[in-house]
Amino acid sequence: MADRYLNFTGTAPGRFLTRRLGLPQPSPLRRWTPEHPYLEGELLLLTAGESAHGPELSTVLSRTHLDLAAESSSPAAVVVDATGISDVPALSEVHAALHPVVRSVAENGRVVVLGAPVSPSDHHQAAAQQALEGFVRSLGKELGRGRTATLVRMSSAAAAESTLRFLLSPRSAYVSGQVIEVGETEPPTTPVDWDRPLAGRTALVTGAARGIGAAVAEVLARDGARVVVLDVPSAQAELVRVADRLGGTALPLDITADDAGDRMASALAPADLDILVHNAGITRDRRLANMPSDRWDPVLDVNLTSVLRTTDALLKSGTLNRGGRVVATASIAGIAGNVGQTNYAASKAGIIGLVRSLAPVASAEHGVTVNAVAPGFIETKMTAAVPLFIREAGRRMNSLAQGGLPVDVAETTAWFASPGSGGVNGQVVRVCGQSLLGS
Ligand code: NAI
Repeated sequence: MADRYLNFTGTAPGRFLTRRLGLPQPSPLRRWTPEHPYLEGELLLLTAGESAHGPELSTVLSRTHLDLAAESSSPAAVVVDATGISDVPALSEVHAALHPVVRSVAENGRVVVLGAPVSPSDHHQAAAQQALEGFVRSLGKELGRGRTATLVRMSSAAAAESTLRFLLSPRSAYVSGQVIEVGETEPPTTPVDWDRPLAGRTALVTGAARGIGAAVAEVLARDGARVVVLDVPSAQAELVRVADRLGGTALPLDITADDAGDRMASALAPADLDILVHNAGITRDRRLANMPSDRWDPVLDVNLTSVLRTTDALLKSGTLNRGGRVVATASIAGIAGNVGQTNYAASKAGIIGLVRSLAPVASAEHGVTVNAVAPGFIETKMTAAVPLFIREAGRRMNSLAQGGLPVDVAETTAWFASPGSGGVNGQVVRVCGQSLLGS
């Protein structure tokens, strides 16, 4: 369903009229294209407080394809290294660094603030570092013109390279107002080729016959992965079309089947699995008072129970390789809740619980990371079916004043899946243009 309002505000009369009426002014987002795979322009690197990462950080940032600059009249991106901020007075340095330049950040530009892990024992450091979260989330709401703001808490610049490359690229166009923690990896994992980071890897994507899942499979294949696409047997024709287009394999299978994990493993043999994307999901909306169990059970079964069951089976059987990645799909409804969605929101909040609990265990025992994307309003068949006024509200009620595209969720999934993202574990990253719901 085309976003006619976004098209209208892109015309001169449309811009004039909507400005006069004080209506939202969405900027068309710049996404990845083969012709323009990187942000173009200058990257301004600023420091607030004493940085522990100086030279290493500059080296990492110099590989983003942006031109590292100490001054710029219109930077495509600004990175503020605030990792050394250890008390509240030092926060004034963050203000002093960004205040003079924030207005000049280019359309579709990025502001990335680097913080340190919040200390469990130094409450002054904890107060100052946590303050950065409120700062960045507010800045994301102020920036406008397709510009985004993100906080990355990191302990090493090398471990954060894949995250910084993602955030400082068009791939993260619909990710704003997020806080991402990147831990240490020993040794740091790095793709052989950053432009095809998934070369030689095998990915299985559930619910991939259409919508977000098909886009995920496409982006993983673009990044070099061999893809196995899974969907219900009744969607086989669409599924085979996706598989053929991507040179992958179709696996018609209902993920709620008791033996779904085993059947996934045998479909992959003799190869093993590197990337498991749990994308399949359903809604059966109704207010709780009107919701019979036959609308409750299937939603919990598809969206949560089958994710738990198949992940456990693939980890236990050793099908998921060391260095593997599990990416599950939550939703902002699982964070904020939604009328008519007690079943769906419970299932998606359950995904967040699963991710946070399994991540450290899977990493320690299997060398596998576990993360989740939490999409906001994404333009798909699911959201096209939403009544007009609710759809319009969903689209506009975020800092970028527009809906996201399936490819935005796919790019975030590909970043989690990268061999370079070994330090990204147990994270729930919202792909929602910084939705007002559940912020
Ligand atoms: P969609 O309905 O277009 O696609 C979902 C796919 O999952 C379908 O192809 C369907 O056949 C498949 N599927 C359903 N049950 C299955 C089963 N038992 N076994 C195997 N495959 C099954 O949905 P969409 O919009 O692409 O959503 C994808 C994921 O993103 C879902 O988990 C959804 O909850 C989540 N999401 C979507 C949002 C949106 O705005 N579209 C917002 C937040 C989350």
